[in-house]
Amino acid sequence: MSKSSPAAEAARRRTFAIISHPDAGKTTLTEHLLLAGGAIRAAGAVRARGENRRTRSDWMKIERERGISVSASVMTFDHDGLMFNLLDTPGHEDFSEDTYRTLTAADAAVMVLDAAKGIEPQTLKLFEVCRLRDIPIITFINKMDREALDPYALLDEIGTKLALDPAPLFWPAGSGNRFRGMLDVRHKTFLPYAKKSATDEEQGHPAPVPINSNAIVQYLDPEEQAEVEESAELVTEAGKPFDPQAFLEGHMTPVFFGTALRHFGVDQLLEGLGAYAPAPKLTAVRKGEAETHVAPGDDEVTGFVFKVQANMDPNHRDRIAMLRLCSGSFKRGMKLKVQNTGRQLSVNAPIMFFASDRELAEEAYAGDVIGIPNHGVLRVGDSLSETGTLRFAGLPNFAPEILQRVRVKDPLKAKHLKKALEGLAEEGVTQLFRPTLGADFIVGAVGQLQFEVMADRLANEYQLDVIFEPSPYAEARWLSAEPADMDDFTGKHRTAIAEDIDGQAVFLAKSAWEINYLGERFPKVRFLKTKERG
Ligand code: G4P
Repeated sequence: MSKSSPAAEAARRRTFAIISHPDAGKTTLTEHLLLAGGAIRAAGAVRARGENRRTRSDWMKIERERGISVSASVMTFDHDGLMFNLLDTPGHEDFSEDTYRTLTAADAAVMVLDAAKGIEPQTLKLFEVCRLRDIPIITFINKMDREALDPYALLDEIGTKLALDPAPLFWPAGSGNRFRGMLDVRHKTFLPYAKKSATDEEQGHPAPVPINSNAIVQYLDPEEQAEVEESAELVTEAGKPFDPQAFLEGHMTPVFFGTALRHFGVDQLLEGLGAYAPAPKLTAVRKGEAETHVAPGDDEVTGFVFKVQANMDPNHRDRIAMLRLCSGSFKRGMKLKVQNTGRQLSVNAPIMFFASDRELAEEAYAGDVIGIPNHGVLRVGDSLSETGTLRFAGLPNFAPEILQRVRVKDPLKAKHLKKALEGLAEEGVTQLFRPTLGADFIVGAVGQLQFEVMADRLANEYQLDVIFEPSPYAEARWLSAEPADMDDFTGKHRTAIAEDIDGQAVFLAKSAWEINYLGERFPKVRFLKTKERG
């Protein structure tokens, strides 16, 4: 196998996402992982970049106003012979489908827990998506520099709430003001915790030097030493030892402790990601009617679009489609075909996203994410390959939980509105339904925040002042049936039938009860809560 064969290159990729409840420290950890990986020099650079981006163009004022990251992005860095691709999943309470879809592009996830809070509601929700997709999880228990819950209680929570076997690779000595460091359970060394000074920040956070157990006395008093050694022993005896295979199969999670803010435990986490997180694996695809799979080392370049991001420049309507590569050796200028439309595009200006910059990607491999600028040709869920015959499954649209009617204040701009709404729906910001009767548009979203993002973007990018009004609908379901049954059903419920952006029939219901009721009366019609595109 030559050094740069697609299989060898894929084997050194680690593509992962961070999941957490808001405030657990995802942004801080992202920043410090980039520091640990040598991708940035000083903490604060991720935010600084964000600020820069915002001053260059304030297309997402809302991001600044609410102080949250609305759009997911990817950051790539090369460290220790490995290429890390960190996918950023928006972590706010009111997340959108973007979050779910981003996880479809990840091979592993880091679950960040606040040591004082344990597993919070959003962690659980995101964890469930990971489990659905068999994504192995590494746990990082953050904020050990504050008073923490008992580490046993935290492990217990992982075991009971997530049904995962926790395998601590480190064991903390104290927390908060009494945080002394942690024992490396596997190597029986101790990592002393020292608060970092301003000079350390400038020098790029020197990693703590592990010391052997004889020297622990310099850092812990005898009581503390006995306590940490006893607990570490107890936990290794009582729990199962870390088994990489069980982790890859999703039964076990290796547990790391630390404090992202103080850059402690972060180097160990990155090392753990390198050592244990999986390289890209086989991906299931459909080829015609056949179910098959692509392997990272296959010759043909293949991938799927998991996100479409509006260009940062509001004066251009360009979109950047984020393509997760699944196989082959991609070269700039290559022609790829979109499976569902048969359209071919020359990928002349693919972008890779490095922490401080974006660069043209000359080559990329399975696990990498490249941004493809285009004018709305590429949509979320599109499958791209050299032959154009492969279709990746499993990129779902979720039935929206909120449905609203949208109108533009200036009636002369109605045509404009249609185009704008279609653009946003293609990006996956919101879903668009056009009732077969009447001229209104109904927009759907999983969370209220998506409407705010939408109103903001319509005003800033399209100069459209819109009003959202309540709609009579509470639920939307995609319809699936034989043509005769479909005609029968839609004919009898014409006022509640709409088309989505792909022209697929959707039933708009006033309540969940109505769907159950009609489901019984029309057993040959399926009312689907998710739609898989591709
Ligand atoms: P999020 O992306 O998961 O929402 O969390 P974020 O990193 O923004 O962190 C939330 C708050 O927790 C921030 O404080 C951050 O500084 C703090 N934090 C993160 N990691 C640690 C840690 O290891 N120890 C301690 N003590 N704090 C931590 P903030 O006051 O809300 O924001 P900021 O003003 O510091 O930016």
